[in-house]
Amino acid sequence: MKSALLQERFAIPGHVSVQNIAPGYPVLEVRNPFATAKIAVHGAQVLSFQPKGEEDLLWVSRAAIYAEGKSVRGGIPICWPWFGVHLDKHRPSHGFVRHRFWELTATEQKSDGSTEVTFFLEDDEHTRSLWPHAFQLALQVSIGRNLSITLKMINSDSGPVEVTAALHSYFSVGDIAHTAVRGLDGADCIDALSNEQFRHAGDVRFDEEFDRIFLNASGDEFIEDESRQRTIAIHKKGSHSSVVWNPWVHKSSRMGDFEEGAYRQMVCVETGNVVTDVITLAPGESHSLGVNIGLLP
Ligand code: BG6
Repeated sequence: MKSALLQERFAIPGHVSVQNIAPGYPVLEVRNPFATAKIAVHGAQVLSFQPKGEEDLLWVSRAAIYAEGKSVRGGIPICWPWFGVHLDKHRPSHGFVRHRFWELTATEQKSDGSTEVTFFLEDDEHTRSLWPHAFQLALQVSIGRNLSITLKMINSDSGPVEVTAALHSYFSVGDIAHTAVRGLDGADCIDALSNEQFRHAGDVRFDEEFDRIFLNASGDEFIEDESRQRTIAIHKKGSHSSVVWNPWVHKSSRMGDFEEGAYRQMVCVETGNVVTDVITLAPGESHSLGVNIGLLP
């Protein structure tokens, strides 16, 4: 739907407006007493969440590409119905829903001052050519003191389906070399670079490319940003696995949508159902994957 039509139907004066940030690429801008946020209709991808008086909690690459069929490098892309590279190389990495325009279904200013935005996506001929199942996805984004996102996945097919998924959150940090991720101590870990599996101990710190999957990880996680002296708290729902990723120098320079040196300002801590944390849904069954993100006082 065109941004002028979305603006007509979903704008809330003083709180929600819709503008194209690239041709044919509408983005909602949300403003309320707690925070501002930006959400692209493409991928239903949250691009910015900035609590009042704070720097953005999310990171978006200055070289990001805003076009249908591409995923914006940054914010919170939704990976579904599979996480990671597909065995069939013709199918896109991290699924296909981050490459599609979603239907914006509602915007609402709540009595507590927060703002709620909801999106919907279901199967069509194109999705069934990539994944032969009927499905419905509903995404609820709540912008208040914290950012809260819930992805409800519904199996509307006649047989069971298996899915993996992630809310692939890119966080903004002052300097990756002075950043620690807490909350994963004791989790079973798979190093995606070496394929080694081991039990992780302590905090995660970064001095080279880092790409690890943490299983049995359903507790809260914290990003200690020592140079900005702030802590981002991540509270997960319906997720027993997490992914922590920083591409470092070489991988980021190969990716094409990272500016030089920009890897230093980001870290992905992804709320997921990945690898062995597979969700099996019987016909009609649903699962909700959620994350609540905010600053510790
Ligand atoms: C992470 C993976 O979740 O996503 C990385 O662990 C991957 O291996 C990264 O490189 C980015 O993926 P993409 O498909 O958005 O380039």
